[in-house]
Amino acid sequence: EHCKGANGLDKVVLREVRGSSAEVYLYGGQVTSWKNEYGEELLFVSSKATFKSPKAIRGGIPICFPQFGSHGSLEQHGFARNRFWSIDHDPPPFPTNSGNKAFIDLILKPSEEDSKIWSHRYEFRLRVTLGPGGDLMLTSRIRNTNTDGKSFTFTFAYHTYLFVTDISEVRVEGLETLDYLDNLKGRERFTEQGDAITFESEVDKIYLSTPTKIAILDHERKRTFVLRKDGLPDAVVWNPWDKKAKAISDFGDDEYKHMLCVEAACVEKPITLKPGEEWRGRQELSAVPSSYCSGQ
Ligand code: BG6
Repeated sequence: EHCKGANGLDKVVLREVRGSSAEVYLYGGQVTSWKNEYGEELLFVSSKATFKSPKAIRGGIPICFPQFGSHGSLEQHGFARNRFWSIDHDPPPFPTNSGNKAFIDLILKPSEEDSKIWSHRYEFRLRVTLGPGGDLMLTSRIRNTNTDGKSFTFTFAYHTYLFVTDISEVRVEGLETLDYLDNLKGRERFTEQGDAITFESEVDKIYLSTPTKIAILDHERKRTFVLRKDGLPDAVVWNPWDKKAKAISDFGDDEYKHMLCVEAACVEKPITLKPGEEWRGRQELSAVPSSYCSGQ
């Protein structure tokens, strides 16, 4: 279903027979809503999100490409998140069959203006799929279509804002004992100690070469998000906490209590594509009652 969203921006709504749904804005190629079969919202979008170009929509799943963060010559998190994507009506076949699932294919190609800031030609295809159980899958295929023989290099993240009831009651499992780069300390490298990760202050870390499965437990709601990823070795964990929250204009002062970004990413070792080559990166999210998870 293709319709108008906030500020008249185009969006696509995916619905699954059991009642779950997702919304995808063409602006940013951005998922802004993911609801389970009870209609409960699982992603965080700020009440101050502007839904207006050129600012990226604050929340949902912005796509960071071709640069994650501020390390590099481009604007923070690259430009894919504030470009108008198109619906891809005739995508090349996917290796994984989306069968009778609800999905939408989007595409981003560089405009002439874009070529001035990043002088490469590419086709970025994004498929957003809502599975029968309400799982949300994002698959990106990025192809180098340069005709001048040049390779290009990029970093990437699915900047996923999860909605949580109370951040101080949230636990992340699957990242303990891993090495990470601390964005709050000039990307210095540290090793995570001890137990599952909990939150009591600002966090901005890039966990390196993580397992493909990460669990985010919302204790208050007795809900567990399971994030699975493929082709994306790293995982970013971000919460601005109170002080940083106040400095972000499109983010409410207290909203940090109700969100946590956990992002399938490729940051430490950038991806290089030769002309004609294609890269794939996938993130799959499910949300289940905590009691269903073994050992919890
Ligand atoms: C995170 C970064 O992924 O995104 C943080 O690690 C950054 O450093 C945050 O502050 C939000 O970025 P932005 O550009 O959307 O405000």
